[in-house]
Amino acid sequence: MNFHIATLCGSLREASVNRHLLQAAGEIAPDNWRFEHLSGLGDIPLYNQDIEDRDGFPAPVTRLADAIRAADGLIISSPEYNYGPPGVLKNAIDWLSRVKDQPFEDLPLSLMSASPSPMGGIRAQYPLRQIFVALKADVTPRPEVAVASAYEWFDDGKLVHEQTRGVIADHLSAFEAVLKRHA
Ligand code: FNR
Repeated sequence: MNFHIATLCGSLREASVNRHLLQAAGEIAPDNWRFEHLSGLGDIPLYNQDIEDRDGFPAPVTRLADAIRAADGLIISSPEYNYGPPGVLKNAIDWLSRVKDQPFEDLPLSLMSASPSPMGGIRAQYPLRQIFVALKADVTPRPEVAVASAYEWFDDGKLVHEQTRGVIADHLSAFEAVLKRHA
């Protein structure tokens, strides 16, 4: 089946290993999946209900909500900051959760992480899973993708660790099952 997959990177860093992981997922996914790598998290102001009440939703939030709604599914790859997800990602999710017809409800979702540490950023994924319970997303259960030693396993932005490419392929098969349930 053809799927349109949006991606979000939880890091604003240009050379982000999580961004590289999303690119690797795009390479490994079936040819008939179209990837759209979304950006703009850094343009979203810090959530403040006064802003929402006074001005409504900032344009980068509305743009992201529309882009996520237009996709069949979403992959988020996030770094782990202090054993949790980065503030920029949580801030974006909080804004998006407030939009009418919030875009995560019933959305097929895949979570990934990458880190130079041996834990692969997995401790950012569990708080995210919990958040997406609140938002009623359909999160792909397992196998999990948590790329450890990421500074060694990405060479010039390309994932060169074959075993990890295999885990990503298996995860994407599990994600495909979720996507098909919603097709
Ligand atoms: C980190 N890093 C990190 N890594 C980790 O595995 N566990 C952690 O708790 C933390 N904590 C943390 C806090 C802060 C504020 C920073 C800036 C970094 C290191 C992190 O994994 C590393 O910088 C990655 O390269 C970040 O991902 P991107 O930007 O390369 O995608």
